[in-house]
Amino acid sequence: MVDVDQFITDAVAELEAEVGDDDAIIALSGGVDSSTAAALAYEAVGDQLTPVYVDTGLMRKGETEEIRETFAYMDSLRIVEAEDRFLGALEGVTDPEAKRHAIGEQFIREFETVAREEGADVLVQGTIYPDRIESEGTIKSHHNVGGLPDAVDFDRIVEPMRDLYKDEVREVARELGLDAIISERMPFPGPGLAVRIVGEVTAEKVEVAREATHVVEAELEEYDPWQAFAAVLGRATGVKGDNRVHGHVVAVRSVESRDGMTARAQEIDWETLQRIQSRVTGQLETVSRVVYDVTHKPPATIEYE
Ligand code: XMP
Repeated sequence: MVDVDQFITDAVAELEAEVGDDDAIIALSGGVDSSTAAALAYEAVGDQLTPVYVDTGLMRKGETEEIRETFAYMDSLRIVEAEDRFLGALEGVTDPEAKRHAIGEQFIREFETVAREEGADVLVQGTIYPDRIESEGTIKSHHNVGGLPDAVDFDRIVEPMRDLYKDEVREVARELGLDAIISERMPFPGPGLAVRIVGEVTAEKVEVAREATHVVEAELEEYDPWQAFAAVLGRATGVKGDNRVHGHVVAVRSVESRDGMTARAQEIDWETLQRIQSRVTGQLETVSRVVYDVTHKPPATIEYE
C-alpha cells in the first residue's frame, strides 16, 4: 500500500509542474478514479482545470445530480447533457465492441467540443494500474484509456494515478475528503449501463437496467461486493396479472474482487434474492424474470459486454 499523504503531495506537485500556467481538462465520469484525479488536479491548479461531466444517459440512478452537488465547489465544472445523442449513436448497434466504439466516439465528440472551447493544453486522466494492464492485453477497448489523447491536440497528458490499485485510489479519495458516495462507490464501467444490456440499447432497456441496478445495489450492500448490479439479457415469457407477457430477463450479478481482473460470484441467501426478484418484477412492468449469475471471472467477465 502506498503512503497516501506522500502520494498526494507528489501527485499535486507533478500536476502543478505539468500544467504550469496552461489550461487543463479532465473527463469526470463520477467514478472513483476520475473523481479522485479531478480532485487532485483541482487542488493543484484550481480553475485552470475544467472538469467535464458528460451525461450519456447511461449513468446510474441519481448519479448526475450527485456529481453536480459533490463537485459544486469547482467553479469550472461543465456538465454536458447528451443523452439523446448517445441513444441515437447506439440505435441498431448490437455487437459488443461496436457498442463500445459508438459510445467512445460520441464521448470523444462531446469532450472535444468542450476542450476546443476551453483551449485546453493538458489532458488529465484517471487511469489506474489495472486499466493499463488490461489495455495492453487488448482484453477489451477501455475508452477511458484510448481515444481522448488523439481527439484533440493536447500538448501533454498527465496520469497521476497510473501506478495505483483501486483500493489505494479509495484511500486517496477519502484523504482528499471526497464524499463517501464517491469514495466508497462500486466501480462503474466507462460505457455505463450499455455494457449491462445484451444487444441493442434502447431507452426502455436502459431504464430497466438503471432501476434494477438501484434495487440490487441497495439490497446487496451488506455483502460488501466489489460490484453488484443488474443486467438486461433478452426476453422470455412470463405471466403478469392475467396476461402472458414477453418481458425482459434481468440478471443479478454480485462479485468480490481486488482489482477486477479476476472475480468470484458471491453466495447470496435465498430470501435476499427473492426480495430482489419481487421488487424488480413488481416495480418494472416490462420485466418477467430475474436470474442470478453464479459464474466467476474467468470464465465470465464481470460485465456482460
Ligand atoms: P470485465 O467486465 O472486463 O470488467 O470483467 C472488469 C472491470 O472493469 C470495469 N469495466 C470498465 N471500466 N471502462 C471502464 O472504465 C470500460 O470500458 C470497462 N469495461 C469494464 C468493470 O465494471 C469491472 O470493474
